[in-house]
Amino acid sequence: MRLLICGDIVGRAAREAVAREVPRLRRELKLDFVIVNGENAAHGFGITETICAELYGAGVDVITTGNHVWDRREIMTYIDGDARLLRPINFPPGTPGNGFGIYGTTPGPRILVVNAMARLFMDAIDDPFAAVDRLLNTYPLGSVDAFIVDFHGEATSEKTSMGHFCDGRATAVIGTHSHVPTADHRLLANGTAYVTDLGMCGDYDSVIGMQKDIAVARFVKKLPGERLEVALGEPTICGAVIETDPVSGLARGIWPLRLGGKLDAALPPLP
Ligand SMILES: [Fe+2]
Ligand SMILES: [Fe+2]
Repeated sequence: MRLLICGDIVGRAAREAVAREVPRLRRELKLDFVIVNGENAAHGFGITETICAELYGAGVDVITTGNHVWDRREIMTYIDGDARLLRPINFPPGTPGNGFGIYGTTPGPRILVVNAMARLFMDAIDDPFAAVDRLLNTYPLGSVDAFIVDFHGEATSEKTSMGHFCDGRATAVIGTHSHVPTADHRLLANGTAYVTDLGMCGDYDSVIGMQKDIAVARFVKKLPGERLEVALGEPTICGAVIETDPVSGLARGIWPLRLGGKLDAALPPLP
């Protein structure tokens, strides 16, 4: 199987670019499954029902989120009815929505996707390692054909630790949240694909997706400044393509994908 996972979609320009490119990418890269992180899809903050429908319509299978999931409050009443929209699994018990799901693809394989959130330099939240460990024990590879972790976090150390913690048990551990791609795509020692951060789908002539002048002024003046506004220049789509081994469920390869905008292009090998 070949899966595409895209990092945090920031604002309308990025959303439209993803919706435009996913159908072509599905075809040309022979993708079986597409996951995107949508926590910043609604003008940089949160996600709405309409945006979910737009992404599903383009061929996205599952949408993950993170700390910005509730920024658009109406999603709190919508999320329980949408099994394809995930929020971090380690929110307190009773939180609306699901932290993971098991999804089928057209030829038959079952793909488990879990969204977990890190704790270092983030809001206090339940232990993500314990939550992912419980899920790995309940649904080991073999009972599902792929096990994909979107680990949403700030600290590279915590994300790398999650990679090694899941190595040999999960198909892939993929970092999101920092909005800047890292160049450490690799297969870990026991066959799990890993990257610390996919980077955002967004305008890189910005400060992590927000208009640069406003964002810089906040650091320079140290005064409560203008409200951050999403940058709407040409976006770069940032993600990774993972190829799974049909027997073991582990990864055969992971390649960066970058398209458009300010960053150098990167394309995975054609199948
Ligand atoms: Fe984000
Ligand atoms: Fe985030």
